[in-house]
Amino acid sequence: MLNSSTQLIRISEAFSGYLAEILDLLGATNIKRLGTEYFLIQVADPDLICNSSAARFIRWHIPVEHSWPCNPENMDSFIEKAAQTLFLKFAGRNPQTILIGQLDPSSTKRYYKALASNLRGRSLQVFSLPERAPKTAEDQNSSKQTLFCLLGKDGLFCGMASPKEANGFYPGGTKYISQNAEDTISRAGAKIAEALHYLGLFRPALPENSHWLELGASPGGMTSELLKRGYEVTAIDRAPLDTRLDHVKNLHFIRADIAEFIPPRGARFDAIVSDMNGPPRQAISHVTRLNDFLKPGSIAIFTLKTTGAETISHIDALETDVLAEAERGGLRSLARTHLTYNRQEFTLFLEKAAG
Ligand SMILES: C[S@@+](CC[C@H](N)C(=O)[O-])C[C@H]1O[C@@H](n2cnc3c(N)ncnc32)[C@H](O)[C@@H]1O
Repeated sequence: MLNSSTQLIRISEAFSGYLAEILDLLGATNIKRLGTEYFLIQVADPDLICNSSAARFIRWHIPVEHSWPCNPENMDSFIEKAAQTLFLKFAGRNPQTILIGQLDPSSTKRYYKALASNLRGRSLQVFSLPERAPKTAEDQNSSKQTLFCLLGKDGLFCGMASPKEANGFYPGGTKYISQNAEDTISRAGAKIAEALHYLGLFRPALPENSHWLELGASPGGMTSELLKRGYEVTAIDRAPLDTRLDHVKNLHFIRADIAEFIPPRGARFDAIVSDMNGPPRQAISHVTRLNDFLKPGSIAIFTLKTTGAETISHIDALETDVLAEAERGGLRSLARTHLTYNRQEFTLFLEKAAG
C-alpha cells in the first residue's frame, strides 16, 4: 500500500526550467516553496523521490515528521521550545546526531546561521548527545538515522533519515566548498572536492599515494585538489595545464588526445576521473577502454554533461546509454548526484568489481 507523506526536497536553481515536470513526475501536491531551493510537497509514493526520472534532480530530501511553521524571529524562546519538542518527538528513536541547516543557505543574513547552530547546541544537550554524537557530519555512520532539521523564516522542518537515504551528510546535501578566487584554477576543483565528500557515503576515502588517472584535466582544478590530498595523478588533455602546476611533485601530465593515450606498460590506477567535455557516450567509452588499467575495486567519477539534451527523457536516454556502456566495460553504478558546482551536468560514481 502506498504511504502518502510530506517530504522536504531540494532542487537546484539550475533546474528551474524543469521544475514543473519534476514535480509532476513525483505526483507532488500541496507544493510550498521554502527558501531558494527547498520544496515542501505531499506525495502518494515517496519511492519516486529516489526511483524515477525526477530522482537525479533532487539533491537532498527528508520525510517531514515534525514541522513548526512560524517566523522564529517573532517567537519568544524559540530555541528552548523547539529543542524540547524535538526531544519529545524523536528521542525515543535514538538519532546518531542532530544536524540543523538553513532553508536559505546563500543568505548573507547571519541570523539563521546562528539560530541553526544554537538550536543544534541546545538540542544535543537536551538529548544528552554532546559526548556520544559523531564529531563532524562526515564522521556519521552513513546508514544510521540522523535527525535532520532545516530552518528559516518559514519555520522549522524536521525528519529522521540516514545520510545515505537523504543523499548527503549535511542538511541540504554536501559540504559547501568555498572557492578562493586567487588559488582556484577552475570550478572543477570544487566539484571533485565535493564529489570526494559525497563518496564518503558509500566507501572510505582512498589512502594517500593512491594513483588517479584524469581524463580532460586542463586547466587543472581537479588535478590540484587531488594532489593536495597526497594523491599521485596522471593527467591527460590536449590543452595545457595551468602554469601553477608546472614541475609539481606526483603529477605526470600527458598532452595528447585521449583517444590516442595508452598507459605505460604495467600501469595500474586506483581511480579514474573524467570531466571531458564533448559527447558523453564517447567520453564513457574512453573510460571503459582504460578499464584494464584500473585495479579491482577502483572508483570512477564521471561528469555526465547534458549539453544539448532538451528534455528529461533526453537526459534519461543519455544516462541509460552511459551506464550501459559502463556496465559492459565492467564498471557498475554506485551513485549519481547533482553537486553544488555541477551546472547542467551530473556526477556519476562507478566502481570496478573487487576482483
Ligand atoms: C571541462 S574541461 C575539464 C576541466 C578540468 N577537469 C579541471 O579540473 O580544470 C574539459 C576538458 O576536456 C578536454 N577534452 C575533451 N575531449 C578530449 C579528448 N578527446 N582528448 C583530450 N582532451 C579532451 C578539453 O580539452 C577540456 O580541457
